[in-house]
Amino acid sequence: MALKFPIFLDAQSTTPVDPRVVDAMLPYFTEKFGHPASRNHPFGWEAEAAVDEARAQLARLIGARDAKELVFTSGGTESINLAIKGVAEMYREKGNHIVTTVIEQRAGLDVCKRLERQGFEVAYVPVQPDGLVDVETVRKAVTDKTILISVMFANNEIGTIQDVAAIGKLAKEKGIIFHTDATQALGKIPVDVEAMGIDLLSCTSHLIYGPKGVGALYVRRKAPRVRIAPLIDGGGHERGMRSGTLPVPLIVGFGRAAEICGEVMAEERTRLAGLRDHLQDVILSNVDEAFLNGHPERRLPHNLNISFAYVEGESVLMGLNKETALSSGSACTSSTLEPSYVIAALGASAELAHSSIRFSLHRFNTAEEIDYVGQRTLEVVKRLREMSPLYELAKEGVDIKSIQWKAE
Ligand SMILES: Cc1ncc(COP(=O)(O)O)c(C=O)c1O
Repeated sequence: MALKFPIFLDAQSTTPVDPRVVDAMLPYFTEKFGHPASRNHPFGWEAEAAVDEARAQLARLIGARDAKELVFTSGGTESINLAIKGVAEMYREKGNHIVTTVIEQRAGLDVCKRLERQGFEVAYVPVQPDGLVDVETVRKAVTDKTILISVMFANNEIGTIQDVAAIGKLAKEKGIIFHTDATQALGKIPVDVEAMGIDLLSCTSHLIYGPKGVGALYVRRKAPRVRIAPLIDGGGHERGMRSGTLPVPLIVGFGRAAEICGEVMAEERTRLAGLRDHLQDVILSNVDEAFLNGHPERRLPHNLNISFAYVEGESVLMGLNKETALSSGSACTSSTLEPSYVIAALGASAELAHSSIRFSLHRFNTAEEIDYVGQRTLEVVKRLREMSPLYELAKEGVDIKSIQWKAE
């Protein structure tokens, strides 16, 4: 089959909406347009039933006991804000300390920075060179004032999957609320709030082949019952935790997307990991000084993050971007030219942090597309290195670090 350009390999910034999801959504824009809070007529009942169904679909995907534990929001960013700020406000009397990690997505980090300005103390736990958080380091960071541990499930740049169950267990032992940003993990790998001891879980629809502009926060109701202060006051929707008319078509799409992920996850994981491993082999066996970022096994099946020494990540993207959509960092940071703070947190040099490329695959990618991208990446990196004086010097055996760049 002829390839269709541009090829999308940036599926950790967003995913295309699955046509089955669009089909499920369409009637809710037109004939089924009711307001789910309209309790006194069939339009409202129909909309409410659709929202309930979506809540149940999502609850099944994360192993929640009760669909009422899910609060719909506008997306991952809002869910993370609601979780962390909501706990901070509700439990302030109990303590003012939060434990998180240095590789959280911007939303988590920026919320913590704001809370610090408001008098909270935050411990930012480092990660190991493979991107894993050491659970013992989390344990040591906990104080008697800690009210929340917030650790992302899987990273958006390097795909590293944390030992969430161990962190959940630790949080339980200490009686601390545990939040995880599962935005990248949901629908891709098994997530189980009960088995993993998760109290709050943030997720978003647009990364699981659903529409943009809708997400959810799981809020545990039992053992323990977690309470959060709302960010938005108003009509008291979503049991007072998130007021505002629910976007029914988006919620229906999110629910359907979750249902499909549950059905295809096992097969899709294997298929995408196979394509990803092939791409990785092609690149790493043909390019010298190319390094895999993140944990080689404990990572999302569709993620591949590689640093190419002596080459700027941005230049690789520019060399490829007419035909292939990739990212040199998270979608939110790739508009700046700052090196990736996630790769830097692994202990990589600034040069290698600048040279990282993220390939992320999705449900509709084909083996032909992956072959094409692999070959083109080899060509572009080769061409860029031919133009790189540093690469030339390194090949001549010069120790780049020993060079004195400034004229005296
Ligand atoms: C790990 C992670 N958390 C949170 C978000 C934000 O989600 P949203 O775009 O739905 O606000 C993203 C977005 O890509 C993400 O990758």
